[in-house]
Amino acid sequence: MRFAVISDVHGNVLALDAVLADIERQGVEAVLCLGDNVSGPVDPAGAAERLMAVDGPSIRGNHDRWVVDPERLAAGSGSVDHLAHSLLSASQLEWLAALPETAIYADNVFLCHGTPQSDEGTWLDNFYTGRTTTLPSLEQVTALAEGLDYPVLLCGHTHTPRAVRLLDGRLIVNPGAVGMQLVHGSPDARYAIVEKRVSGWHTHFLAVPYDHEEAARRAADNGFPQWAQSLTNGWVGPSSLG
Ligand SMILES: [Fe+2]
Repeated sequence: MRFAVISDVHGNVLALDAVLADIERQGVEAVLCLGDNVSGPVDPAGAAERLMAVDGPSIRGNHDRWVVDPERLAAGSGSVDHLAHSLLSASQLEWLAALPETAIYADNVFLCHGTPQSDEGTWLDNFYTGRTTTLPSLEQVTALAEGLDYPVLLCGHTHTPRAVRLLDGRLIVNPGAVGMQLVHGSPDARYAIVEKRVSGWHTHFLAVPYDHEEAARRAADNGFPQWAQSLTNGWVGPSSLG
């Protein structure tokens, strides 16, 4: 078994196209998508169009939930969720609203966006203040995996590629973000390939260059200069994205 894992595209169709082209060369049997698909200022509708055509299980992230939540939209008229909602077609919004919160692939792989319990929770690392990131303990990470009897558990949401092997052998993988780098100091798009070999489950993390300057231009043109800056250099604190 060998599959690709993508997450947190955040409407960045240029990064997504580069990643999907890279995946084409990898000989995988499926592409698993962990959500936060469209909320971003580059091209939400273009990202939705590509993701709807991807062959593999797909779940929703917290932003996907917010894009189709009327109360949330009413409260944040200047947000990227609002922008995505205004640009998506009716069928794209329907697709987004129908995505499940979690999924299981091939009896072996559990998919969630944040943690198994919450699409806003963080699992393998905490969001950070400035450039300081704190890591949870192994006990905290293990507790959130309780009752999930699958050899591979997948999460996204924090935009940080990381793989944790629990003491019982289960593997938890966050592939990082396709469309928005927060703490890498590089704009390259991230994804992962997970593969079962005789020796066990292997994780490959990949970083794919793409036309990030064009992505930044589109973000600025759509009125999100903070996003344009982080698309350019790969450094930002979540609070400064606006
Ligand atoms: Fe998220």
